[in-house]
Amino acid sequence: MYTDEMLKSMKRVEENREKNFSFEPRRMTAEEKENLLLEFHPDYIKSEFVNLSVGGNKGGSVPTELAALLQGKGRISSDLDIENPEYDTDVLIIGCGGAGASAAIEADNTGADVLIVTKLRPGDANTMMAEGGIQAADKENDSPAVHFVDAYGGGHFAAKKELLYKLVTEAPDAVKWLEGLGVEFDKDENGNMITTHGGGTSRKRMHAAKDYSGAEIMRTLRDEVLNRKIPILDFTAAVELILDENGRAAGAVLMNMETGKIFAARAKTVILATGGAGRLHYRGYPTSNHYGATADGLVLGYRAGAKLIYADTLQYHPTGAAYPQQIFGALVTEKVRSLGAKLVNAEGQVFMHPLETRDVSAAAIIRECTAENKGVKTVSGTGVWLDTPMIEMREKGAIERRIPAMLRMFGEYGIDIRREPILVYPTLHYQNGGLDIDAQCETAVKNLFAAGEVAGGIHGRNRLMGNSLLDIIVFGRNAGRNAGNRAKTTETGTLTLKHIDKFEEEKRTAGVREETITPALLPDYARR
Ligand code: FUM
Repeated sequence: MYTDEMLKSMKRVEENREKNFSFEPRRMTAEEKENLLLEFHPDYIKSEFVNLSVGGNKGGSVPTELAALLQGKGRISSDLDIENPEYDTDVLIIGCGGAGASAAIEADNTGADVLIVTKLRPGDANTMMAEGGIQAADKENDSPAVHFVDAYGGGHFAAKKELLYKLVTEAPDAVKWLEGLGVEFDKDENGNMITTHGGGTSRKRMHAAKDYSGAEIMRTLRDEVLNRKIPILDFTAAVELILDENGRAAGAVLMNMETGKIFAARAKTVILATGGAGRLHYRGYPTSNHYGATADGLVLGYRAGAKLIYADTLQYHPTGAAYPQQIFGALVTEKVRSLGAKLVNAEGQVFMHPLETRDVSAAAIIRECTAENKGVKTVSGTGVWLDTPMIEMREKGAIERRIPAMLRMFGEYGIDIRREPILVYPTLHYQNGGLDIDAQCETAVKNLFAAGEVAGGIHGRNRLMGNSLLDIIVFGRNAGRNAGNRAKTTETGTLTLKHIDKFEEEKRTAGVREETITPALLPDYARR
């Protein structure tokens, strides 16, 4: 139940709605944005980061919680017998979200034998939870070049250009590919794709399936994987990579999540598609992420010799649910703002343009709730209003038609977002950085590929909405194709786990005595 203070504030939002509806907030200048980020964005609070003592990014800054895992205590030792692995395949894919499934389909197209392992079930991934849509410059007033400029600027000019180039130029084909597989994108009465803006986009290029875009895409990809009968080991986690005597990726040590049994899979090439890290709850933030988002791929890759890029940059989605407590941190899609809802403070004032880029929007909300003291008190902190009834003022029935998942999520708690505003606050949503890959999706370890959220460098230091669903498809497909083709010319040498000893030795020399068990596999509040 809302407190009296919340109700009083909500009344102010209602009284100002007409005025706020016609008010056009201005965009911030580059200087204003920079100052705002420096003061209020969590990435810029350096006390929450530490420098790594070992590995390919020694000296590099990462969140404290991630450092504990990257330099933690492995789950097996190098003397494990892996001479006769239980599984032998061409391409081993670790993870079965959007990137893993896309990779599996394309690797299968090359004629390679593919094995997928996933620590939960296929499709239990951030892809399934993605809401707002997928970007692709496929309309007449748009082009991949404009898409590139939007994403490059939004990412603070830090994206690896060859990766971003691939992302935007292959986007139209990615959307066609998904449609061909059966994804039902929103279309108008003439059969044209309905597209919207996201924060920082200069053209409407967000293709969506209402606000279930990720679920619709994941459903389709999973069906395709199952129809092709690509083998999947579910409830099976990778706990360490296996290399061959030449230092190339050659499989993984696996663990059955139910029985704890440890066994091995040999492969000519390996693809890490393990997703993100929101369930590490950096700085105590809630998260919009899936239960399995625990940075496992970063750990597996790093211990085997892969490098990280921008591991110190995280995305706090500006609008996580701040109330009711049962959905604290759940994603309130950016599409709500694309459709016309504005951000309003406790006094009923619109305090910013609703579609600034995500890092800027998150920092502005944090400032409003802290320095400005104009947030609304909630059970677990503060929030600002997202005035959803404005969407209906623009277009009656739009909420039910375009964002039914939001209507339902809040409806469960007696909140009708067509009539009442909702309370939001930033939630941990995405890791902008990850494993450093080249344009073939290969890491610094030969025959080890990475795709999806586990890979970094594509978006620079901030990602635009809809470029993640795009990235898992574009880079998932590329990784699958490249790993499948590479497998054709690869003869795997003797399997070894010696890299574990090398890593441990480096830790000893550096005086690292981290006892955290790694990879985490599940959040630390999971039932054991
Ligand atoms: O707001 C959203 O719907 C999130 C989309 C994304 O992270 O790309």
